[in-house]
Amino acid sequence: MTFAVRPVQDADRDAVRRVSGRAFGHGKVPDLVEARAAAGDVLGGLVAVAGGDVVGFVQLNRCWVDARERLVDVAVLSPLATDPDHQGQGIGTALVAGAIEVARQRREPAVFLEGDPDFYSARGFVAATPLGFGRPSARIPEPAFQVALLDEGLPRGALVYCQTFWTQDCVGLRDPRLAAVEEYFAATH
Ligand SMILES: CC(C)(COP(=O)(O)OP(=O)(O)OC[C@H]1O[C@@H](n2cnc3c(N)ncnc32)[C@H](O)[C@@H]1OP(=O)(O)O)[C@@H](O)C(=O)NCCC(=O)NCCS
Repeated sequence: MTFAVRPVQDADRDAVRRVSGRAFGHGKVPDLVEARAAAGDVLGGLVAVAGGDVVGFVQLNRCWVDARERLVDVAVLSPLATDPDHQGQGIGTALVAGAIEVARQRREPAVFLEGDPDFYSARGFVAATPLGFGRPSARIPEPAFQVALLDEGLPRGALVYCQTFWTQDCVGLRDPRLAAVEEYFAATH
């Protein structure tokens, strides 16, 4: 299957809702995507298109590093979604690479995310805590808090999510099995 990655357009709205809803299995992520756009928190987005259909989506959002000397604008990648019928064909990898390239062209100093290090460590991301960055919530397991550092000179500090992450309650794990997940991360990373 061939696919192309291009900037998201207004006309993609329904398709982005469908793909992100199907990938995550619920409507919370599509709502988050739209709430961020309405709040003006979005830096950019990309879609993957195959056979005329949108089959993947990634969004970059404006957040901050709360450094001692100043508040620094950074990008946060969220969400990354590939339609379940099209997973395992390189779309997620291409969207992550595309998002990093968008951030680089915008001269963003870093792209942060919370996600599975097994996936993102092979795609340009490293653990952010050992580099001196703080998690926006203790509910994000440390290995899941990752960064693609594009400017080594980025001042260190805590990552602060933009408001929509909080108003939509989409930060970290809020699962009774959190302890088990953290044990799993500790044992495997
Ligand atoms: C994660 C996701 C975007 C990957 O998209 P994709 O188009 O299948 O990605 P690619 O084809 O480029 O890469 C597939 C690889 O990712 C791996 N992978 C998929 N989901 C993964 C996960 N949650 N953790 C670790 N690895 C994962 C696959 O096993 C496969 O590995 P391989 O390349 O060694 O065979 C897609 O599975 C998805 O939309 N998942 C649901 C939403 C989600 O969890 N998004 C990420 C939030 S952080």
